[in-house]
Parts: sequence; structure tokens; C-alpha cells
Amino acid sequence: MAKTKNSPKLTVDESRRIATTGDIEVATYLQIAKEMGGEQPSPARETIPSERESIVVIDFGSQYSLLIARRVRECNVYCELVSCDTPWEKIAPLNPKGFILSGGPASVYQPNAPLAPAYIYESHLPVLGICYGMQVITQQLGGQVTSGIKQEYGHAVLHLSDSKSPLFAGLDNSVPVWMSHGDRIEVMPPGFKAVAHTENTPVAVMGNDQGIYGLQFHPEVAHTPQGKMLLKNFVCQICGCGGIWTMGSFINESIARIREQVGTGKVITALSGGVDSAVVATLIHRAVSDQLTCIFVDNGLLRREEVERTFKVFQANLGLNIIGIDASERFLKKLQSVIDPEEKRKVIGEEFIHVFEEEANKIGKVDFLAQGTLYPDVIESATSGSTASAKIKTHHNVGGLPAKMKLTLIEPLRHLFKDEVRKVGLELGMPQEMVWRQPFPGPGLAIRVIGEVTKEKLEILRSADFIVMNEIKKANFYRQLWQSFAVLTDVKSVGVQGDYRTYSYLIAIRAVTSEDAMTADWARLPYDLLARISTRIANEVPSINRVVYDITSKPPSTIEWE
Ligand code: XMP
Repeated sequence: MAKTKNSPKLTVDESRRIATTGDIEVATYLQIAKEMGGEQPSPARETIPSERESIVVIDFGSQYSLLIARRVRECNVYCELVSCDTPWEKIAPLNPKGFILSGGPASVYQPNAPLAPAYIYESHLPVLGICYGMQVITQQLGGQVTSGIKQEYGHAVLHLSDSKSPLFAGLDNSVPVWMSHGDRIEVMPPGFKAVAHTENTPVAVMGNDQGIYGLQFHPEVAHTPQGKMLLKNFVCQICGCGGIWTMGSFINESIARIREQVGTGKVITALSGGVDSAVVATLIHRAVSDQLTCIFVDNGLLRREEVERTFKVFQANLGLNIIGIDASERFLKKLQSVIDPEEKRKVIGEEFIHVFEEEANKIGKVDFLAQGTLYPDVIESATSGSTASAKIKTHHNVGGLPAKMKLTLIEPLRHLFKDEVRKVGLELGMPQEMVWRQPFPGPGLAIRVIGEVTKEKLEILRSADFIVMNEIKKANFYRQLWQSFAVLTDVKSVGVQGDYRTYSYLIAIRAVTSEDAMTADWARLPYDLLARISTRIANEVPSINRVVYDITSKPPSTIEWE
């Protein structure tokens, strides 16, 4: 496959989103896909057991759409987010018990504004329209929406006019809610009545006797404290969902589906040591045992004891069939004289693909490739507007795998969020240590050694990083932090150690809290913990005489330094 001379760089959005997964495949494969124009393996056919009950969220493009799906799943009800042009044939297998129409940036009275498909109303299932979703219902069922005289953004107090509404069962008569709208309901559709109002919005909630409701506020956001209860009322009381979707049922369904799909075929997967690929491997192994082979590439950029730990957990504890490849010399050679962070990622990504392909070829005929794509990646692929980039994003994890491998994808986690993946891991009996591992970037320590990566510098960083991890764990901060690690800077400074002048490297400590890595804040770690880390690093790690703590949030910084 020919390489393009001017290889396109990832956009900021792509890099950021890729970055949130913390899996080796993601960054490397997507980058390589762009570089090589690689063909993508064919995605496996999805089958959802028909006995499953679900709520379907019709996405009109709100920034909170995914959050709605999360909230519904918190009620133990399976939920999927689909675009508003999804045909009924794709919805039917989900066995929906109700629909939620999301918010969105459009105005319903504008030409070509997106509307709900006819089956939403023809199904006679309950419908909940949120913000733009409420305006869609109004417009389509014969009411009138106008541009509000007063726009409403932020906090408002909602007053119930109909305290008997099942939507508000158990809620207070006046509740704080989060508004974000310019348009408002001028005339409700026939058969609807106002259920609640705010100071500026006479119809803040409306409903009819057929179980169709509209909310002008956002119940899915944390700023609407009783919103979760309201959504639960809709899902469980109004739609009649039983709340039977658990991680245990997910595992059973997945195993049955994988067995049916794989038959007697062979599956490979790349183990990165991260939680997503670990859960995928364990799940597939549970389903088809020795038909799965895991490939674990030691690129020489891993942390201290990481290779041994991974083998211990996966081979000894979980009984997985793992091919371990020590490719550290190969990677280090390729990284010689490479300083630019993007170039580092590219070099590492390319080499990974080469090693992976070589090893896969040695196994003989393989039919399936399993990988840890998560739901936010799937959603982003499906909803991002631009066709070219959307295509690559859809299967970004393996986008660059050589076409000749002709593998069918298995993505058992493609409908799960990160915290759900962790729950599955625990349910599968994976060790806590593995399940709660902080994310670690695909390019590994190479992007934490600023400047050229050498064996010596990697060793210095490993020693410092090991101390950071130990102290953070000892102080019980590990799980509270999104990530905590050391960075070996390219700066040298003067110090005094044992009466001698030193001129040595500076280590930076990075510890952040975050929900999803899109934004992050530096962690307010106790001074004495920082002091212990600093003293130990300066005393125990040769070539270091100064330690600093990074106190920048993201934005304007990123979590990793490169
Ligand atoms: P940034 O530095 O962009 O990182 O704030 C956000 C999250 O993504 C991880 N990260 C990566 N993960 N390949 C990965 O698999 C990468 O190239 C990569 N770069 C950053 C980072 O550790 C953080 O969790």
C-alpha cells in the first residue's frame, strides 16, 4: 500500500477524541489509517436479542444527547442513541418501549429543520421531547413554536400546575431546572395541556393522555437535581420498563452472540494492558476460549513491571493465550532523533502495525479481529457530519490494518460507556487492579520523555513514575484521579546534593481529575504527599535534582505533555 507523501495530520477534534479512549489501538491505527489510506475490516453484523426492552433516543444534535442515554441506563434500562433519519427497520430489533427526542441547535420553524420520523407517533409508544424535542412534537402535532421574547439559559425554578402528572411522581412541586432555549411553545398541539411553568416560560412542560410529553428544560444534566427521578418516572412508570438490564445480562447476551458469530473461527486481539482491551479479551475468551489469541507488543515504552504484570494477570490468572513480542529495540531504533510529538506518534503507530501484522501472519488463518471500541466512539462516528473523517472514525481502532488480512470485526463493547466496561470487568472476575487502571496512552512513555527518547531517559522516567504511582496508591488517591504520572522534561538545572553541585534533569509530576479526559483539572494533592514524592524522586532517581508539580488544567493544557 503506497504511503502518501504529505500525510494528513489529525485534526484537534480527532486527536482529542481519540485521546479519551486511552487504548493503544485508537491513536495508532487512526493515524496509520490516515497515513496509509488503509482499508477497514468489515464490521460484524449486529444482533440485539429481541426480548430486550429499550428506550431509543432520537438525536437532534444536542451536546447532551449522550448524557440522556447514560441516565436511562442508570435506570437499568438499555438505551441507544440514533440519528433522526434512522429507519424503523433498524429500530424494531431494539424492541423500544418508548422514545426520547433530544435537544438540538436548530429551530423547528426554519426550512429543513430535522423532525421526528413518522413511526415515533405511529407506534403509539410514549414519547418524551426535551427542549428542541418538545418543539418538534409541537410542530408535528399541530401546535405553534415561536422565537421566545426572553431567552432562557441557566437555572430556573419550575412550578407544577398538574401535580398528578406521573412524570412528576415523587418530585417536589417547585424544582430547580436547567434551561437552555431561545424558542418557546406559543400554542400547544390539540389534546395537550400545560403541566408546569417557569417565570419566563408558561409552557415549560406539556403532556397529553397518550403519554406524549415535552420538557423545555434538560432533565439529563446535573444542574437539574431531580431530573434523574423524572427520567426514571418516564422510563419505568410511563413506558413500563422493568429495569432488568444489568452487566450480568449484558455478559450473557454477549457471550451467546460471540459464540454464534465466531463458530469454529479464529480470533485475534491486541492486548494493550488497558481496561478496554482487557475486558474484550476476557469476554471473548469466556465465549470461545482457545480460539482467541492475544498479541501483546512490548514496545519498550511501557512502565516498570508492566510487561510482567500483564502476563501475570492475563496468562496466569485468566488463562488467556498470549503471544508476547519484545519489539523494544525495533521501536527505540525507529525513535532515534525523533523530537516532534506528532512524529513520535506516527513512528510508533506504524511500527505497531508492522509488528502486529507479522505476528498475526505467523498464527495462520485468522477470521476475526476483536477490539475495544466504546459507545462514545461509535456515536461520534455516526453523528459527526463530515463524510470523509466520519468514515475513518467509524472503525478508527483498526482503520489502518492491512486490507489483505481481511478480518471481520468483533466489538463487544461498542454499546458501553467506560464505567460500564469497568463494571463488566468486575463482573467477569477480573482483578481490581486491572479494572481500575488509570488510562495509559498508546505511545507510552515516549510522549512523557520530552525531546529524543533514549533507553537511559526511559529508565530515569520509569524510576520516577514508579515512585509517583506507589505514593499515590499508598495515599489512596489512585482511583480518585483520572491519571497521575511523571514527565521527564528536557530541562536541566543546578542543584546541590551531598555538598556537590549538580546539573541534572527536572521531573514534572502531573495528576489530574476528569470525567472523560475532554477537560481536566489539576488535582489538589496534599502538600505532604507531594513532598514525599519529591523527596523520594530526588533521593532515589539518579540524574534528577528538581521536581515540579504541573498546576495547569485542560484547557489550556492537555493531560499529556506531548
Ligand atoms: P490529552 O493529552 O490529549 O490526553 O489531554 C487525553 C487522554 O488521552 C490519553 N492519550 C492517548 N491515548 N493514544 C492513546 O491511546 C494516544 O496517542 C494518546 N494521547 C493521549 C491521555 O493519556 C489522556 O488520558
